[in-house]
Amino acid sequence: MTPRLQPGSDPNLSDLLGRHRCGHALEQGFYTSDEIFAEDMERVFLPDWHYAGHVSELPNPGDYLLFEVLDESVILTRDAAGDIHALANVCRHRGSRVCLEQSGHTRRFTCPYHAWTYNLDGSLFSARLMSTDLDKTKLGLKTVPVEVFHGMIFVSFSDNPATFAGARAELDPLLKPFGLDRLRVAHRESYPVQANWKLLIENYNECYHCAPAHPEYARHHAMHMEFERFQPLNEALKPRAEALGIPTAMIDRVGVNCPAGSVDYTVSRQALFEGTDTGSDNGRPVAPLLGDLKGYDQGACDLYVGIFNPMLIYNDHAVIYRFIPVDTRTSVQEIIWLVHEDAVEGRDYDLNRLTWLWDVTTKADKFIIEKNQQGVNSRYYEPGPLAGMETFTQRFLDLYLDRMGRPA
Ligand code: FES
Ligand SMILES: [Fe+2]
Repeated sequence: MTPRLQPGSDPNLSDLLGRHRCGHALEQGFYTSDEIFAEDMERVFLPDWHYAGHVSELPNPGDYLLFEVLDESVILTRDAAGDIHALANVCRHRGSRVCLEQSGHTRRFTCPYHAWTYNLDGSLFSARLMSTDLDKTKLGLKTVPVEVFHGMIFVSFSDNPATFAGARAELDPLLKPFGLDRLRVAHRESYPVQANWKLLIENYNECYHCAPAHPEYARHHAMHMEFERFQPLNEALKPRAEALGIPTAMIDRVGVNCPAGSVDYTVSRQALFEGTDTGSDNGRPVAPLLGDLKGYDQGACDLYVGIFNPMLIYNDHAVIYRFIPVDTRTSVQEIIWLVHEDAVEGRDYDLNRLTWLWDVTTKADKFIIEKNQQGVNSRYYEPGPLAGMETFTQRFLDLYLDRMGRPA
């Protein structure tokens, strides 16, 4: 029998990796140890790509937006030429935060401490009362890797981030009909969850729990059914989608399928139940059609770019999920709802109807994930076997363990 870890003890990473049993949940220390959490952030979370905002939030030169996670703060700006920049919000003098507003419009950023001033591309404009031989070209705000992908702005904290070339080549034609660069953020909501960040992602990646936990979701989505019952619905979806010019090809480049040096990405078109147009209270549309779509095929796209940014694309709106670690046993689940850029609240959509399904579903997830963490904290916790319907959770765990240094 494996020795039990007492709550609060700090197990060593290689011990935990060595004790992990394939096809099982993770050892307790992965969810309870502050040292493991610190390793998680360095090895897995920070180096990956993170959805930081949408270009529609920075429509004009001079617009800016803060993206903040853990100890990091990034200023997203649009410069006079229209280009997007991601700048570390850390003054090159003595390190103060430079930009304090969550969003706004400016010509330059002035540090609140000693008033060094930076341009929209991060270059140092002026440093008052400093000697004239100060080399200003070496003291611009540091830049953070940034990619704009179909209007979505992604940021990474790696010095050598994974590339988007493969994702662009393979996903561009599949995503084009949805006009994702012509969306607008209708609403974003943060749900604090008292649980380790991995429990949020494990939960999102399986629909084994959907039938018992999410009656509202299960009414209209078929993903919670066994493969044999789900697959015929996906086959029936294909002609409906193709008639509307919606691609149904499945691309899967995650984990072992991901080419070396590339960001992980995957897209698939999944059937909703027949008669269900979108994810809503009654399955009826909640907003105007996206992009160039001409109707409802009664399907939805599951899209991942990076392992932290799943997105669900219905025909009339899109939903982005962010899993944000705060500390070992605290996370935030953020949900961002996007609609066609021309859609006007009150006229074209009702915000309560638009957000209802994923609000109620996320609150139910918060409850079950917190109960999961509480059980995992116990001296009686022992990792159990995963179900066939937890394949994607298994895949996330494998990817996680590999990035944590599991021996091949
Ligand atoms: S710390 Fe920013 S000007 Fe001194
Ligand atoms: Fe769920």
